[in-house]
Amino acid sequence: MITQIFAAVALCASVGCSVAAESETTVSAAGVTLKSVSVTFPESDRRFPGGADAKAINSNCLICHSSGMVLYQPRLSPTTWGEEVAKMRKTYGAPVPDESVAAIVDYLSGLDPQD
Ligand code: HEC
Repeated sequence: MITQIFAAVALCASVGCSVAAESETTVSAAGVTLKSVSVTFPESDRRFPGGADAKAINSNCLICHSSGMVLYQPRLSPTTWGEEVAKMRKTYGAPVPDESVAAIVDYLSGLDPQD
């Protein structure tokens, strides 16, 4: 729990969100005081377009970087996208379930690169 709070604070520092202190609750026991805070993250408009077709990629590929990292790549073959998704999983440890890989590769293979 404390780790989650620290993670939220660190994320706030990096993305510039606000922590609303006025709604906090404090709990003390055994010399430890915990404070709950309400954290408001900024809305991101950098999700992948495409509605339902983009569900798998929006659920799995926005944890570490924005969609821009992906959308500004050139058009790539399904094989190359497959290798890219494998690299995210193996090299960077992206927690993408096996059953989502095909939908993500299909989505990526149908992208029209942005200029
Ligand atoms: C665990 C963190 C993490 C997740 C989750 C993640 N990536 Fe990445 N991704 C990275 C890192 C780290 C880089 C390299 C950034 C750099 O080179 O500056 C990267 C870079 C990329 C690039 C740029 C080309 C390259 O190979 O450097 C693409 C495209 C990409 N990711 C696609 C994806 C896709 C698609 C997914 C979802 C399947 C995904 N990423 C999920 C960490 C992640």
